[in-house]
Amino acid sequence: MKINSHNPIGIFDSGIGGLTVANAVTRLLPNESIVYFGDTAHTPWGDKSTAAIQAYSIRICDMLLQQNCKLILIACNTASSAAYELVKEYLGNRAQLVDVIDPIVAHMREHYADKVIGLIGTKQTISSNIYKKKIDALNVGIQLQSVATPLLVPLIEEGFADSKITEETIRQYLSLPNLNNIEALILGCTHYPLIKNYILNFYQHKITIIDACEIVAHSVQGLLSFHNLLNRDTSSHKKIFYVSDYTATFEEHAKFFFSEAIHLEQYPLWDT
Ligand code: DGL
Repeated sequence: MKINSHNPIGIFDSGIGGLTVANAVTRLLPNESIVYFGDTAHTPWGDKSTAAIQAYSIRICDMLLQQNCKLILIACNTASSAAYELVKEYLGNRAQLVDVIDPIVAHMREHYADKVIGLIGTKQTISSNIYKKKIDALNVGIQLQSVATPLLVPLIEEGFADSKITEETIRQYLSLPNLNNIEALILGCTHYPLIKNYILNFYQHKITIIDACEIVAHSVQGLLSFHNLLNRDTSSHKKIFYVSDYTATFEEHAKFFFSEAIHLEQYPLWDT
C-alpha cells in the first residue's frame, strides 16, 4: 500500500498525557499534520486489564487509519506495554508505528550503562516488567528499580496537576525505599511531564529526570525520514483533536500546548 508523505501522524493516549509527546513532535516537525485521540471516556488506562487496553488501542488505530495516518504514535506507556505487538501486527504495512518505550530503552543504552535507574509508571506498565526485560536484554549493566504510581494520572486528568495533593502524593511515592540511591528517573508515563517540576523539586535537581517527549519525537523524525515520508510542504499542516468524551481539562491542555484555537471533536469509541 502506498503511504503519502502529506498524510497526518496519528497520536493516541488515554487522555491528555500524550499531548506532551504530540507537542514535542509538532515542535520538531512543524510541517506535519497530526490527528490526536484522547480516550477520555476510559481514562485512566493504567489499572485496566491488558485485554481492555488492547481493545481500546485497536479501535483507536482503526479510526486513525480511516484518517489516512501515515504513522501511528502510541503516546502512552501503558498501551505501549500492553498492545504494541498487537497493534504492529494489526497495522501491517498500512502505517508506520512508533511507541514510547523502545526509544527510551535505546537512549538508556547510549547514556546510562552501569547505572542504577528508577522508573515510575502505571500499574500496567510496571507489572508488565517491559522496561526491565528490554533493559536487561541490552546487557549494559543497568539496574532498574521500579515503583507503580497509580494515583498520578487520575490527579492530572482531574485538573490537579498543579496542587498540594499532587506534590504530597509525589513525595510519598518517591520516598519509597525502592527508589533510594537512583542516579536518574525515567518518567514511564506520558502524563508525568506535566508534574515534572514537583519531581525535580523532590530531588532538588540532583538527578536526571528522563522524559520521553523529545527522544520519541526524534524517533518519529528518524522513521519518517528513513521511509521518505517527511512532509516537505510547508503550507498545509493541520491539527485535529478527538476525545471519546468531552472534558474541560482536555480542552484547556490542548489549547495550552498548542497556543492556538484548536479543533476538538467528540468521537465515542463504541456506540452505546
Ligand atoms: N499516559 C499514559 C501512560 O503513559 C497514562 C495511562 C493511564 O491512563 O493510566 O501510561
